[in-house]
Amino acid sequence: MQRVFSGIQPSGIPTLGNYLGAIRNWVPLQDTHDAIYCVVDLHAITVWQDPKELAAQTREMAAALIACGLDPKRCILFIQSHVHAHARLAWIFNCVARLGWLNRMTQFKDKAGKDREAASSGLYVYPNLMAADILAYKATLVPVGDDQKQHLELANDIAEKFNHDFSAEGFFPRIEPLIQGVAARVMSLRDGTKKMSKSDPSDQSRINLTDDADAIALKIRRARTDPEPLPDSVAGLEGRAEARNLVGILAAIGGTTPDGVLREHGGKGFGAFKEVLAEALVAHLSPIQAEMRRLLDDPASLDAALRLGADRAAAIADPIVTEAERIVGFLPR
Ligand code: AMP
Ligand code: TRP
Repeated sequence: MQRVFSGIQPSGIPTLGNYLGAIRNWVPLQDTHDAIYCVVDLHAITVWQDPKELAAQTREMAAALIACGLDPKRCILFIQSHVHAHARLAWIFNCVARLGWLNRMTQFKDKAGKDREAASSGLYVYPNLMAADILAYKATLVPVGDDQKQHLELANDIAEKFNHDFSAEGFFPRIEPLIQGVAARVMSLRDGTKKMSKSDPSDQSRINLTDDADAIALKIRRARTDPEPLPDSVAGLEGRAEARNLVGILAAIGGTTPDGVLREHGGKGFGAFKEVLAEALVAHLSPIQAEMRRLLDDPASLDAALRLGADRAAAIADPIVTEAERIVGFLPR
């Protein structure tokens, strides 16, 4: 069975973008693939995290993943820092990846902002750790949102250079991104050209998976749009980023396509359309929220499931990373 790996940062409450662009696509892979999913707290601290909040958010993210349909019995679900193989392999990859490669990463440029000198060195080598996450399991399929494609290309460059430099042809496999769905990129509700993000300073820019019905309705009502009614087909969304985004969200929630949505709602004004969208979102998210609350009411069971996940993950990653260490010369051959 092909091995799947993906990760998500516990750097805030998961958004509708995380859900539609990533988490939701992870669920069916549990039954068709050998699926491993990870809450990446090592990645989260590349930017400042309050320690108490980090611990709470890590647990909340795990609860959210289970509530969205990941089943710790059908997949391996764990916290990154619990499995030391990630950090061990990441160090080796820090010494394989070239500065020139990292300099091309657009996420670093976005996240470091204007004051690049003040960014942590972890933020800079973030993609090397991500490559280690995947390759510690020799996973070959990685379901992510569209924004992570560049990191996966870098991971392939690292794997190839490792195999070549250490004459270990074929040791690390090639990775393929799996970018799925009509909502591979959900945009901010305030600006249709920016992606919806859990770290955006404006809470109005995103739907959090924990938002209640009133908050969802209000955010959708206030979402930026243009004055024209909805077009009859996708061609009419050209140059209308905000309209395209809202149509895409309803399509993804309803399991249809943007054309399907426009066949039904074309010609409507945004007032009416936004009511339909808010109602669909509330109906879709409320059972997830109820399940999340149930899981967080029993933290001991949740933590036990995550410990078990870490043990199962380590059983796969440890031998692979030990072999990589042997290849590098840390251990006698
Ligand atoms: P992050 O929030 O950066 O930890 O991302 C976790 C996962 O969600 C990754 O697979 C991202 O590609 C995906 N993701 C994050 N934001 C969005 C978005 N606005 N639209 C679609 N996918 C997203
Ligand atoms: N960088 C990813 C993000 O911000 C999270 C991540 C870390 C990841 N390690 C990974 C995703 C390994 C896929 C595979 O979304």
